[in-house]
Amino acid sequence: MRDQKIRMAIAGATGAVGLELLRLLEERQLDMELVGLAASARSAGRSVRFRDQMLKVSDLEDFDFSGVDIAFFSAGASVSRVHARRAAAQGALVIDNTSAFRMERDTPLVVPQVNVHALAQRPISNIIANPNCSTIPIVRLLDPVHRFSPVKSVIASTYQAASGAGLTGIEELDASTREVLDDGGAAPQFKRFIAPLGFNVIPSIDALLADGFTLEEQKMLQESRKIMSAPTLHITATCVRVPVRNCHSAAVYVQCERGITRADLLKIWRNSPEVRVYEGATADDFPSPRMVGSSDLVHVGRVRQDPENNKAFWFWVVSDNVRIGAALNAVQIAEALLNMRPFDLRNQEIAVAAGM
Ligand SMILES: NC(=O)c1ccc[n+]([C@@H]2O[C@H](COP(=O)([O-])OP(=O)(O)OC[C@H]3O[C@@H](n4cnc5c(N)ncnc54)[C@H](OP(=O)(O)O)[C@@H]3O)[C@@H](O)[C@H]2O)c1
Repeated sequence: MRDQKIRMAIAGATGAVGLELLRLLEERQLDMELVGLAASARSAGRSVRFRDQMLKVSDLEDFDFSGVDIAFFSAGASVSRVHARRAAAQGALVIDNTSAFRMERDTPLVVPQVNVHALAQRPISNIIANPNCSTIPIVRLLDPVHRFSPVKSVIASTYQAASGAGLTGIEELDASTREVLDDGGAAPQFKRFIAPLGFNVIPSIDALLADGFTLEEQKMLQESRKIMSAPTLHITATCVRVPVRNCHSAAVYVQCERGITRADLLKIWRNSPEVRVYEGATADDFPSPRMVGSSDLVHVGRVRQDPENNKAFWFWVVSDNVRIGAALNAVQIAEALLNMRPFDLRNQEIAVAAGM
């Protein structure tokens, strides 16, 4: 029996993911104590409500992670490369929402509904990575299909919400929408996105790579392979930013190695944890970002077998990118760790042994 509650901290506590983490830790009633909130110097001193208390936000630069058991990081990849490493070296087990460590060998990349077994041993890095927000719902649907009939290849087109770029992404969508409504003639203003998002779609998310794909598109391939332990799985994607405030969607075409029917798929997903299946009995029976709202489920609909290929099918998926794609996945990793108790969360020796 533990004598003390698990001590948690959040870096990036004032952002879209950080604030959602706070809501989730409150809603899900984890047996924990929140011992620190950190953000940039801009927010240091600000107060944030958690349960019935107002907690002060610290400057991450000065925040000491000694004595923290689990540290959630969502302050951007460059910040994690410095401060999540520092937190891990100070003995905290880091659950990182950024892309900084996802593909590193010593870092498990975890979606608890798919590969919770990757948490069985404390990673030598002291860091567990959360996958990309479009990858999480897609692997949650692909993995049970893969176990029924191995998935050979996937073509995905994503429709990603402004909140994927954080609170400033939502603000910029709102502003650029108002700009058009108020004064169609004004020169469009944009900074967070590479083009104005209001009344527009932008087929380019994150850095452009030498092969013409974007980093966002590359992440889906590499991360899915790692999470599903499927090194030959082929995934190709076009990732598009759309003028939606929250919830990412994707249209996904899947080819399996063996025949699979629509009835098989509906049955597989009806039996999958935290998935809602829209069986499409009427034309309006599909998930959409506005209808799904802030939800803890992965919503799948428009399930269609390819009429010319009985091993292939389409589906349409919608999920809350800030919850399912980041904060909820991170909290579910923490819950899995607390339930499994595979190691002592306070074992500082491992961090020291890793020489960090
Ligand atoms: N939004 C999503 O759907 C989503 C999904 C998956 C992963 N992620 C990842 O999660 C991370 C955060 O995303 P977000 O959407 O929450 O962004 P956000 O709304 O822009 O929030 C960023 C947070 O990071 C803090 N921060 C920024 N620069 C910092 C610095 N130099 N030092 C310390 N703190 C700093 C900000 O603090 P201030 O308030 O002081 O600026 C804020 O708390 C990103 O790496 C993102 O890729 C986001």
